[in-house]
Amino acid sequence: VGSNIQLSQLRISKTDNPRTPPPAKNLVFGQTFTDHMLSVAWTSAKGWEAPHIHPYGPLSIDPSCTVFHYAQTSFEGLKAYRDENGKVTLFRPDMNMSRLNRSAARIALPNFDGDAVVELIKKLVALDAHWIPQLKGHSLYIRPTIIGTQRALGVAPPNAALLFVICSPVGPYYKGGFKPVSLLATSEYVRAGPGGTGGYKLGANYAPCVVPQVQAAKSGYDQNLWLLGEDHRLTEVGTMNLFVALKHENGGVELVTPPLEDVILPGITRDSILSLARGHASGAQPISTLPSKLIVSERHITMKEVKAAAESNRLLEVFGAGTAAVVCSVKNIGYNGEDIAVPTGPDGLGPITKSILDEITGRQLGIIPSDWSVEV
Ligand code: COI
Repeated sequence: VGSNIQLSQLRISKTDNPRTPPPAKNLVFGQTFTDHMLSVAWTSAKGWEAPHIHPYGPLSIDPSCTVFHYAQTSFEGLKAYRDENGKVTLFRPDMNMSRLNRSAARIALPNFDGDAVVELIKKLVALDAHWIPQLKGHSLYIRPTIIGTQRALGVAPPNAALLFVICSPVGPYYKGGFKPVSLLATSEYVRAGPGGTGGYKLGANYAPCVVPQVQAAKSGYDQNLWLLGEDHRLTEVGTMNLFVALKHENGGVELVTPPLEDVILPGITRDSILSLARGHASGAQPISTLPSKLIVSERHITMKEVKAAAESNRLLEVFGAGTAAVVCSVKNIGYNGEDIAVPTGPDGLGPITKSILDEITGRQLGIIPSDWSVEV
C-alpha cells in the first residue's frame, strides 16, 4: 500500500561532529557505531516516506509502540569490506533484502523495494567508508532493522513502521578471536519449533536464547548446540547455521547441513557454502583444497549419528556458519554428561573448514572474483 521507497528523495544531513574511528584491534563486536545512519519511515496511509541519512543517534519513539510490547522487529546482518586500494564492497546484499522482506511480512510489517534499500546502504557506507577497518578478519557490520511504530497496545498489523540501518566496525564475533568453540548440546530449551518463526530473522527468536547461552557458559561451553525432537536432531549452533563433515562409505566426504525447514534460518553464509560445495561436487567449479569425492547433503542429522560417527572415527569436522562469525570451527560437543571430541587440525581449523573459510572470505574480500561481491 502507498508509495515505495524513492531513492531520488534521499536527504543527507551530515554530522557536525565527525568522530575518529578507534584502532581496529580495540574493537569489541557491535559496540562501536559510525557517524551516520539511514532512516525510512512508513505509514499505512502514505507508504514509504523520503529516506534520510543523518547523524547516528537516539530514536524518539513513543513508549506505546508495538515494537516494545510485541517484539515487532526484524533485523539483518551484512558486511562491507575495504581493500588496500580503497575499493568498498558488500557481500550478497540482495539476499539480506529479500530475507528482511520475508521476515517483515511474517510479523505484519510492510515490504519495501530491496534494490532501493541496497542503493541507500551503498550511499551510507560510502559516506562512512573510512570507518571500515582493514585489519585481517575485520569489516563493517551493517545492521538493517525494521520495527513497528504504531502507538497502540492492540495486537494487530501496525499502521506505522521504521526501517533503519546502522553500521558497526567489527573484528571477530567471539571474544576468543577465531579459535574453535565448544558446544553444549541443548534439548531442554528449543531455539525454534515446527510451525514457529525460526526460519525468519526476528528479534523475538534471539532474546530467549540468552539465558541458555549464559547457562552453557557456566557449564564451561562457548555456545549452545540447539537440538530438536525426541531423536535430538541438530539444528543450529549459537546464532549460526551448522555443518558436519563425515567420512562417507564411498571413501569420500559427506558435508551435511540441516534442511531449510521452518526451524532453520536461511543463512546467506550457509547458502554460499552450499553453492560452493555443490559447484565443487558437480565438477562445475572444482576447489583444489576440498576432497575430490564430496557429497553435499541437506538432511536431518541426529546426536545418535554424530556420536556413532565420532566413535568410529568418521566424524571429520563440525563448524558453524554465519555473517557475524563467518566460519567457526567446533572442537567438542557436551552431550548427556560426556564430551564428544571433534577433530580440528593443527591451527584450530580442519582442512574442510579451512578450505570453506578461505573460499568464502576470498569472495568477500574480492581476492577471488565473484558476482556475490557488489561494489559500493
Ligand atoms: C549474524 O551472523 O549476522 C547474526 O545475525 C548473528 C547476530 C546475532 C550477531
